[in-house]
Amino acid sequence: MAFEFDFENRISSPEEIPSDAAEGDNPLRPKALNEYIGQEKVKENLSVFIESAKGRKETLDHVLLYGPPGLGKTTLAGIIANELGVNLRITSGPAIEKPGDLAALLTNLSYGDVLFIDEIHRLNYTTEEILYPSMEDYAIDIITGKGQMASSYHITLPHFTLVGATTRAGQLSAPLRDRFGVILRLELYTPEELAQIVSRSAKILDIEIAPDGALEIASRSRGTPRIANRLLRRVRDFAHVFSNNVITCETARIALDRLEIDELGLDANDRRMLEAIIKFYKGGPVGLETLAAVIGEETVTIEDVYEPYLMQIGFLTRTPRGRCITMEGCRHLGYDFPGVVSSSPTLFDLK
Ligand code: ADE
Repeated sequence: MAFEFDFENRISSPEEIPSDAAEGDNPLRPKALNEYIGQEKVKENLSVFIESAKGRKETLDHVLLYGPPGLGKTTLAGIIANELGVNLRITSGPAIEKPGDLAALLTNLSYGDVLFIDEIHRLNYTTEEILYPSMEDYAIDIITGKGQMASSYHITLPHFTLVGATTRAGQLSAPLRDRFGVILRLELYTPEELAQIVSRSAKILDIEIAPDGALEIASRSRGTPRIANRLLRRVRDFAHVFSNNVITCETARIALDRLEIDELGLDANDRRMLEAIIKFYKGGPVGLETLAAVIGEETVTIEDVYEPYLMQIGFLTRTPRGRCITMEGCRHLGYDFPGVVSSSPTLFDLK
């Protein structure tokens, strides 16, 4: 039996979908470091590096941001550019197909600009090779033509700051990783931090929300601001119809239950993945590839989207032999843990 996953339209997916941003700029994105909630260590370090670069009148060293999707890597790149008072140019690894595409971007930068490359681990090898000298020496060598007609051009670039973002720092080649002077890891947010983000967003969107309503949304957002802001918009629709346009704890609860997002933020897809581990592999271990095949999902999606939160809340473990559900995970889904004696028959009793 294969499960039907609807990842594209998953309301609790941390991946960006078009409706997350209002037309053009996303008004919910903080523009300055002091508006940015959470990630305290990252903010503290960044503010020092930014101040120091400004004081020395030099460009900021290249910055690598890594961590699960939806935590604010693009937002931080925008803040870095704003705080430095420079332009932000945005692109992504998959969008840069040929070295020439990157060369065009680089030669159009002004002194001090921030070039943001999202999903930088997906740059192809030939493009990545152009990036090395541009990061290190602010120069590129371009060869045009072939054979006897070939010519080489040495182009110097303005000093710039590359901000790279990746969900998978481990997939970055060592030469690329080593060229970043600043490497910062973003962590999943606490429910309290997310509640602050939800309240801030509600104010910007002119939605009335009670503090316990914000915390209810925050607690079901998988540690991810992008999900929290998306749920806020959906809960607002329910508040409009059912509770006089005010998001109370009760409205949030009803709305999120209807959206099939449980008290811990798990949606139907999380539950089906965990249930597959219980039902077909007696709680695990099951190899990543096997699990991906069973639930009809890509291994990277399981690793980047499903697992960080399920591991953070202690429902899933990664072992050398594969993925295992924990006792807490089993309990949450209403199953007994394999090996625990139960008075009532469980799935594990059924061969
Ligand atoms: N919106 C999205 N992420 C945010 C953050 N970290 N702080 C404030 N608002 C946000």
